[in-house]
Amino acid sequence: MLWPKLVCFALVSLAFGQLYQVASEDTISVCPTNFTRVADKCLLVDGSWKNFYESDRHCRSINAGLLSIKNQTELNAINQWLPVVAQYQLEFWTAGNKLGQVRDDYYWQSTGEQAFYLPWNTGQPTPASGDCLTLLANYNLTSEAFVMDPHRLTVKNCTQWAPHICQTPLQVFKTQLCLNTSAFFEAKIPV
Ligand SMILES: *[C@@H]1O[C@H](CO)[C@@H](O)[C@H](O)[C@H]1NC(C)=O
Ligand SMILES: *[C@@H]1O[C@H](CO)[C@@H](O)[C@H](O)[C@H]1NC(C)=O
Ligand SMILES: *[C@@H]1O[C@H](CO)[C@@H](O)[C@H](O)[C@H]1NC(C)=O
Ligand SMILES: *[C@@H]1O[C@H](CO)[C@@H](O)[C@H](O)[C@H]1NC(C)=O
Ligand SMILES: *[C@@H]1O[C@H](CO)[C@@H](O)[C@H](O)[C@H]1NC(C)=O
Repeated sequence: MLWPKLVCFALVSLAFGQLYQVASEDTISVCPTNFTRVADKCLLVDGSWKNFYESDRHCRSINAGLLSIKNQTELNAINQWLPVVAQYQLEFWTAGNKLGQVRDDYYWQSTGEQAFYLPWNTGQPTPASGDCLTLLANYNLTSEAFVMDPHRLTVKNCTQWAPHICQTPLQVFKTQLCLNTSAFFEAKIPV
């Protein structure tokens, strides 16, 4: 880079008598290391087999939570991404569960929100088979190739094992192109 890059904060600039002038301001969104941007959030697949509770703990240990699904736009984006990062992987734990609920209401453990968008798999839900929700893809061997249907929600016993998907929000930064009498430099400020 031709321009020396320094971190500059608008307030500091003011304190030093406006030596720096903000030439332009922009917002950028990035995902933490190892996470991929999918449908305006950051996702990570962990292929190791764990039960729901262990999967939840793993996501928390990396400042994330288990996957929640908001709407069809999000589900479609996830289904386009999954075969790319985890080919032939049929099942993943999500944050969805009805643990401790008397009624069959499902909640996303990671966001605390009730799950209203519930794209059930064929024959689902089967509340008697467990309290937790996975994203499961049925496969189709009738055709010559192995064809995987899109992943949809399926009830599973929380103590059983499956890989899982962690999510974390996009990190939004404001970048400023700062200008002083002899140099440009760029600032990254958490929003
Ligand atoms: C990213 O993944 C690699 C390989 O699994 C791991 O060694 C590294 O610690 C991870 N980085 C972060 C920031 O979690
Ligand atoms: C789905 O949710 C995303 C994120 O909140 C939003 O941007 C999008 O418009 C929603 N799509 C539909 C079809 O509701
Ligand atoms: C889940 O599996 C465990 C161990 O097999 C069993 O004890 C438990 O009753 C099952 N829970 C449900 C809700 O089926
Ligand atoms: C399996 O694939 C074949 C050919 O693509 C299709 O005709 C059939 O309906 C599929 N079966 C199921 C259960 O999806
Ligand atoms: C302008 O920025 C350059 C590079 O960071 C620095 O060396 C110089 O002292 C600055 N000039 C003023 C007037 O602040």
